[in-house]
Amino acid sequence: MKRPTRTVAWGLPLALAVPLVGLTGGSARAATDYQAEDATISQGAVATNHTGYTGTGFVDYTNVTGSYVEFTVSATAAGTSSLALRYANGTSVNRPMDISVGGTVVASGVSFPGTADWDTWATKTVNVPLKAGSNKIRATATTDSGGPNLDRVGVAAAADSQAPTRPGQPSCSDIGENGLTLAWGAATDNVGVTAYDIYEHGNKISEASGSSVSKALTGLTPDTTYNLTVIARDAAGNTSSASPVVDCTTKPSSDTTPPSRPGTLSAAGITANAVDLTWGAATDDRAVTGYDVRSGTTVYKTVASGTSTTLTGLACDSPYALNVVARDAAGNVSPQSNTVNFTTKACATDGGVPSSVSTLSTGWTIPWGTSWLPDGQSALVTERDDFRVWKVTKAGAKTQVGTVPNAVTTNGEGGLLGVAVDPKWATNHHVYLMHTASEGNRVVRMTYDGTKLGDYTVLLQGIKKNRYHNGGRLAFGPDGYLYVSTGEAQTPDLAQDKNSLNGKILRMTTDGKAAPGNPFGNYVYSYGHRNPQGLAFDRNGRLWEAEFGNSSKDELNLIEPGANYGWPTCEGNCGVSGMTNPKASWNVSEASPSGIAIVRNVVYMASLRGERLWRIPINGDNESVGTPTAYYVGTYGRLRTVTKVPGADQLWLSTTNSDNNGGEADGSDKIFRVTIS
Ligand code: GCU
Ligand code: CA
Repeated sequence: MKRPTRTVAWGLPLALAVPLVGLTGGSARAATDYQAEDATISQGAVATNHTGYTGTGFVDYTNVTGSYVEFTVSATAAGTSSLALRYANGTSVNRPMDISVGGTVVASGVSFPGTADWDTWATKTVNVPLKAGSNKIRATATTDSGGPNLDRVGVAAAADSQAPTRPGQPSCSDIGENGLTLAWGAATDNVGVTAYDIYEHGNKISEASGSSVSKALTGLTPDTTYNLTVIARDAAGNTSSASPVVDCTTKPSSDTTPPSRPGTLSAAGITANAVDLTWGAATDDRAVTGYDVRSGTTVYKTVASGTSTTLTGLACDSPYALNVVARDAAGNVSPQSNTVNFTTKACATDGGVPSSVSTLSTGWTIPWGTSWLPDGQSALVTERDDFRVWKVTKAGAKTQVGTVPNAVTTNGEGGLLGVAVDPKWATNHHVYLMHTASEGNRVVRMTYDGTKLGDYTVLLQGIKKNRYHNGGRLAFGPDGYLYVSTGEAQTPDLAQDKNSLNGKILRMTTDGKAAPGNPFGNYVYSYGHRNPQGLAFDRNGRLWEAEFGNSSKDELNLIEPGANYGWPTCEGNCGVSGMTNPKASWNVSEASPSGIAIVRNVVYMASLRGERLWRIPINGDNESVGTPTAYYVGTYGRLRTVTKVPGADQLWLSTTNSDNNGGEADGSDKIFRVTIS
């Protein structure tokens, strides 16, 4: 047997019960007024020498003990009445009076304190017993000051404060699957029982009129025990104590036909902790009363109506396999729907700051690109000017795996630049490199078997080169396409030419074609860039980019396909229609940024001339950033590349102090490990 749930639709609308209580109470009782000037007066006189009285005047008591006013009041029935004596007392001294009914003092020494002045009237209320018919009510002064000035008395039935008696033992009859009749012993009341409230445990489930002693309860759940009591209520809202309890159990359902299997279940709007589920309605020979959302046979949520729900409270970054079943009132369960599989989004761990730095590896000469193998155990690192490629393990052990053929320097910023390991490296062993060659900058594909570089295929060439502004970063997007940052080769107008490969973010396939869906039908993904060297994707799959300004502002941009980032029309914020502003900008002396990486929704930006690591928090999932803060200013020199360590809240951070701008000896560059916490 079951306990009843609270989802049952009871026959009584709850709204009906509330006003019945709210309308009762003393304020609605009508009073009859009796003017003092019309009453019997002993040692007093009718006066009109002050304002604010009602009727034709008031009684000015003679200032002696025993002066009185006597009202003749009729009552329809014996009982307690409430007297409202309207008076004024322009002194600061109380003028107590005895109140008698039919010669018997029923309230002695009732106080009539000062009312500020003789024009200010107050009301004193006294409860007195009246008999049916005529009653002589007398107010007699008890001090030498006499009574106050008395305007009138209002007489009303006193508020009912007496509760009905406890109803008698309830019992159940006509017990069915969904209903029963509850009967009880009548309660009595001095005024009258207005209603009986019927409770299941502490919850009112129905009510009956005060003249009835039974009620048919409907909408009950089959095979369920109801713990029932009855409470009587009067018009004043007084309630009796609860009747004795009766436990009644509805009959088991005769319905043995389960609902049909729900239609296709699908998941959308997946976040870190919630998912929107939608499914097709089931049918039933009687009625579907709800759906259970389950994992296997474990119910996550019961949905009483509708065929969709947002399931909350899920664990972040976790796989789920959910199904739904339909239920009917008898508890028959349908076959389960299809299973929908999904993984919740990454756990919200925004924030963190660089907390410690250790030297991971030394002996480098202008290390430039860094890309982790998919297993997260090692990375490939390029050296710009000697074209060597190294394997560096997580622990910092360094082994040369090859040299990139056909690479040349530019006596400036060209050479062997970015590297990106194919996300499917485990099966294809492909790695991608960007380097300067005789004809220009190239994107090439090589193989790396875990030990040695091999093969060499040119995927895209003829990207104009120059001594400076060769871009060079490679990054795979979550879409599986390769993103390439190219400089404008010291030819600013190329950045605005959508048919030029320079001053762009390019998006290409792993076999060297323009990626499908690019905004201009060629390799170009975004344009108006000067010398971009920072690319990183955030947890929403959005591409962030950092680029060097010329003489004024460096930029951190959020890249939208087809957008124009302004160079050479402007640096930093443009305010020019059709050009997209950066999300943050810096004076070139504070930054001159190369690589960027994102950890816990924070962009870290390695800066060369600024010799610092910028921390730029993304504002949640918004397209904006918070205030940047700088770390290690001047401590490690020129910072080129920052990379997130897979599976850890760590960065690798490499220097470029041995280039022509840094002037340090070959082999003086380092890679640091930075812990974020
Ligand atoms: C004043 C006042 C009277 C009042 C009297 C009193 O004379 O005008 O209205 O009754 O004082 O002290 O009783
Ligand atoms: Ca059924």
